[in-house]
Amino acid sequence: MPTVLIQNMAFKVGQTLTLTGVPKPESPEFTIDIGNSSEDIALHINPRFDAHGDQCIIVCNTFQNDCWCEEHRDENFPFVQGEEFQIKITFTNEEFLVTLPDGSEINFPNRQGSEKYKYMNFTGQARIQGIEIK
Ligand code: GAL
Repeated sequence: MPTVLIQNMAFKVGQTLTLTGVPKPESPEFTIDIGNSSEDIALHINPRFDAHGDQCIIVCNTFQNDCWCEEHRDENFPFVQGEEFQIKITFTNEEFLVTLPDGSEINFPNRQGSEKYKYMNFTGQARIQGIEIK
């Protein structure tokens, strides 16, 4: 599975991470994880075109203490296989705000309350065109 892994990122409260990419036409899903490591994921964003028994849904979650927490599921699905998307992520110590390609937003709790995250991992059949923190 193609990945883009950043382990020494400095993503802080108030900053915005912008990710631009194009999922391959046959891509079943992709994921963006933000946290401290693969075992400590504060925010997992998983748009599923057709994966894990789901079609066209965005699943968000936290992975900590060896397990997934409670899922947030959003049926607004502004992603198209083969078409460019842009996702913007910003956060406070209380919540993440994820802006989707159609301008709609997902609020997801910052369950760990951290003000800085250093790890980002993108996984999926996709071409990543840009990752920027500002
Ligand atoms: C699981 C899936 C994980 C992750 C998790 C989110 O079913 O295997 O990759 O997406 O859901 O809750």
